[in-house]
Amino acid sequence: MSKVTDTIAWIDERFPLTKSWETHVSKYYAPKNFNFWYYFGSLALVVLVIQIVTGIFLTMNYKPDGELAFKSVEYIMRDVNWGWLIRYMHSTGASMFFVVVYLHMFRALMYGSYKKPRELLWIFGMFIYLALMAEAFMGYLLPWGQMSFWGAQVIISLFGAIPFGIGDALTLWLRGDYVVSDATLNRFFALHVIAVPLVLVFLVIAHIVALHEVGSNNPDGVDIKKLKDANGVPLDGIPFHPYYTVKDMVGLAVFLIIFFAIVFYAPEMGGYFLEHANYIPADPLKTPEHIAPVWYFTPFYAILRAVPDKLGGVIAMFMAIVVLFFLPWIDRNNVRSIRYRSLAYKGILAAFVIAFIVLGYLGMQQPTPFRTFLSQFCSLVYFGFFVALFFISRNEQTRRVPDRVTH
Ligand code: HEM
Repeated sequence: MSKVTDTIAWIDERFPLTKSWETHVSKYYAPKNFNFWYYFGSLALVVLVIQIVTGIFLTMNYKPDGELAFKSVEYIMRDVNWGWLIRYMHSTGASMFFVVVYLHMFRALMYGSYKKPRELLWIFGMFIYLALMAEAFMGYLLPWGQMSFWGAQVIISLFGAIPFGIGDALTLWLRGDYVVSDATLNRFFALHVIAVPLVLVFLVIAHIVALHEVGSNNPDGVDIKKLKDANGVPLDGIPFHPYYTVKDMVGLAVFLIIFFAIVFYAPEMGGYFLEHANYIPADPLKTPEHIAPVWYFTPFYAILRAVPDKLGGVIAMFMAIVVLFFLPWIDRNNVRSIRYRSLAYKGILAAFVIAFIVLGYLGMQQPTPFRTFLSQFCSLVYFGFFVALFFISRNEQTRRVPDRVTH
């Protein structure tokens, strides 16, 4: 035996190295019909690593202090060797994380990946999404620019709408002061740099363990575990390694080309990834003319503004996220994939996606009476999707799902 096999055997007697590799990679049988939409899980993992690594290097030169934060970011951009690259990778990574995760979630909607037995996998995913939003929100305060400051001011003050004095006490507790201040910056730094990333990593591990427990779904929504060969290997399954490790490399290459094209040529992305007002240091005495969150929050921001009452708006905004947790029980049909579902289902899903995109656009704009009306209409379509799904899915006219996956 060579030295390498000897070492592996030594480790295997003390730690399940080969066993874990086989269970999760070389003998994890994934459906052979994965398509484009299945790239985004592994890409989300890649972005998570990019964010953690670039974040560590940013932390080496960033100063979480109301007096120094803005200047320390300028220092990173101008004086630290490769600082600009690390910072732009981190800021671009934040937006790309949401691009990837939104496409990943849309895939789950299309192929019914949230349905039995993958409910918990979906719920872990939803908690990841929540943690990701908290992480991005707190990270955005750190450059201590005008939009960092005022964005945080607006969002935190939303909690003030909660009645019976709870709201005021809660906003004070969150900020650690009567306004967003140095104390807020310090705690957001602690949460952004260590607390939330730890939670995220834990959740991602739980997400993948849950996935490997039940097995991956696929574009046909067929259960590949039903038909196995004499060795117990699913007839429509192929080992994750080397088949999907190689395939995912192609997705990764394309992703990295797009990612670095943005980092090198359009890091601000016309103000969508890095807002213009954030190049002005935070000034508690001067409110910017137009306060808008970053694009990935704007659909929910538009729902908030669509409701005339402040408390009502806050409730609607939170419900827009909470309702997604219940999707596995709202959709009562057993057929998973959109390929075999009714025209009605396809219609409401299309309406839902269009409403979400339009809301995202409206959330970035200054409100006008027409835009407010459109936001209200799109919010109704958004929530209407779940109501319609609950009723349609019960007795839906679906097509017969094949026994084996198709190509
Ligand atoms: C940091 C963020 C995330 C990471 C790293 C991640 C990672 C992954 C990976 C590696 C897979 C397997 C490959 C694939 O099916 O594409 C997967 C599957 C899945 N993820 Fe995520 N995920 C994340 C966020 C989410 C979110 C936010 C949701 C939904 C709320 C979600 C729902 C799902 C579902 C339902 C599957 C199973 C899909 C299927 O088998 O058809 N994930 N995830």
